[in-house]
Amino acid sequence: MNDRVVVAGAVYDRGRLLAARRSAPPELAGRWELPGGKLEPGESGEQALVRELREELGVETEPLERIPGEWPLKPGYVLRVWTARLVSGVPAPLQDHDELRWLGPGESDAVDWLDQDLPAVAEAMRRLPDG
Ligand code: CDP
Repeated sequence: MNDRVVVAGAVYDRGRLLAARRSAPPELAGRWELPGGKLEPGESGEQALVRELREELGVETEPLERIPGEWPLKPGYVLRVWTARLVSGVPAPLQDHDELRWLGPGESDAVDWLDQDLPAVAEAMRRLPDG
């Protein structure tokens, strides 16, 4: 059986990276992640990412590039991450999250990231565009 894919976005705007604090489930609540969700049948990773960011944050985004690699989550799930550009809207924690933060260069340690997101966050910070 193939693992199910969870897609997440390293969303950039004005030289900062968006971090989202999970409100559920209890074992993940309070930890920070790159927002995203499960790939649905028939979707590309990029399509799923745009849909998840629209549903969870109310924004329109444009995927830029895949961060190479794939990271294990709970059994049966793997995480894939894309960088993305904020196209329109102001992110709001509509689903799954209770707080959002924009992190500038050198601020990636300011929040308590989920362990499984750390490699992708480090790479996303290295790729942070100029403001
Ligand atoms: O929104 P949806 O139900 O499709 O997915 P989700 O609940 O946001 O994410 C599915 C699983 O992937 C959860 O167990 C999340 O904790 C995990 N996840 C993660 O570890 N890191 C992320 N950046 C995004 C999701």
